[in-house]
Amino acid sequence: MLFDPKPKNQRSDLFDREEEIKELKESILKVPITLLLGIRRVGKTSVLRVALNELKTPYLYLDLRVLEGEGYSKVAFYRLLSEAFSSTVSRWGRLINYLRGVRGVEVHGFRVELDWREESLTLTRMLNNLNRFGEEAEGGFVVVAFDEAQILRYLSGGKGRVDFGNILAYAYDNLPNLRFVLTGSEVGLLLNTLRLDDASSPLYGRYVKIVKLERFSKEKSIEFLVRGFEEAGMRVGDDILQKIYEKVDGVVGWLAYFGFSMIESRNPTVEAVNEVAEKALKLVKEELDKVFRRSRYYAYILKAISLDISTWSGIKRAVEAWLGRPLQNAQITRLIETLVELSIVEKRNGYYAISDPLIAEYSRTL
Ligand SMILES: Nc1ncnc2c1ncn2[C@@H]1O[C@H](COP(=O)(O)OP(=O)(O)OP(=O)(O)O)[C@@H](O)[C@H]1O
Ligand SMILES: [Mg+2]
Repeated sequence: MLFDPKPKNQRSDLFDREEEIKELKESILKVPITLLLGIRRVGKTSVLRVALNELKTPYLYLDLRVLEGEGYSKVAFYRLLSEAFSSTVSRWGRLINYLRGVRGVEVHGFRVELDWREESLTLTRMLNNLNRFGEEAEGGFVVVAFDEAQILRYLSGGKGRVDFGNILAYAYDNLPNLRFVLTGSEVGLLLNTLRLDDASSPLYGRYVKIVKLERFSKEKSIEFLVRGFEEAGMRVGDDILQKIYEKVDGVVGWLAYFGFSMIESRNPTVEAVNEVAEKALKLVKEELDKVFRRSRYYAYILKAISLDISTWSGIKRAVEAWLGRPLQNAQITRLIETLVELSIVEKRNGYYAISDPLIAEYSRTL
């Protein structure tokens, strides 16, 4: 179903994106590291999963967002890895042969347990084993997909942060039967996690292919809505479709959310769109509250940008006025950059803007 609120796995449930899936699959075949970039709810996970399922080669899929609620700990990461390996083993049983006998790995049926206390059991070691499995696998490689890879940056190992860039650079040079796909936001992944523009980064100078997912155009967004409603046997007036588009722009996750809610209520009216928007704003609030818990200054910055204050100095002045005291330049810069990293704020030609119209709407009320 087109409006299904979960990420899609099958192309038949996906609207458009043929080009992007083709590009992603070709890149996985040819290049060791591919980045799938895009803002929140633009369809990264769906495009990734459809491509992985169509490739037929074995893959390991890790949704790092799971770690957000678990303090980015090593224990949580190993639990996630155990689950990912178990799920890969249940489809590609021969992988077991490459895990049995490894210290710290226990296999019960299809269930793989990794012991995080075993010092020799590192991510690098597991990738080495996967690489050997890749050699004999159909296609000659295994895909390792990190969904929301910027979260890897927050992982803390036994002796502090894990340098994921190092691990990837090692794999790039030494593990020819692995292909990596990393999804995330442009700034978060490219600049902060992998630091591809930084000569001291372990990955600097290595070729990394980028596939970008953009918002749908207005035409495509309307077509998506029409198709989704048709699927549910509902005819919806043009004014309603326009109204939904106005609320959410071409962000497919929101379009699907609005469509799904309206099918549930069977009430395709302008009032219903407004009601769904209220519900969506509550979701936005929950997501932003997590950010505001880190610092309440984020709320002031978002409020300023939502009121069309789009320059660095304008934002600084506004936040200082609301706070009633001056802030250091570096502090303001760091706060704005974090919002950009989270894909909440975008920088376009030197001006700041809020990427998602619903976040902008909510921010005006802060
Ligand atoms: N091309 C598409 N056709 C139909 N539905 C889609 C498409 N792309 C995404 N969706 C739907 O939009 C929602 C968000 O998609 P998805 O989770 O894949 O995006 P994402 O970019 O990974 O989002 P997030 O930033 O939350 O991780 C889901 O309900 C999904 O089913
Ligand atoms: Mg996702």
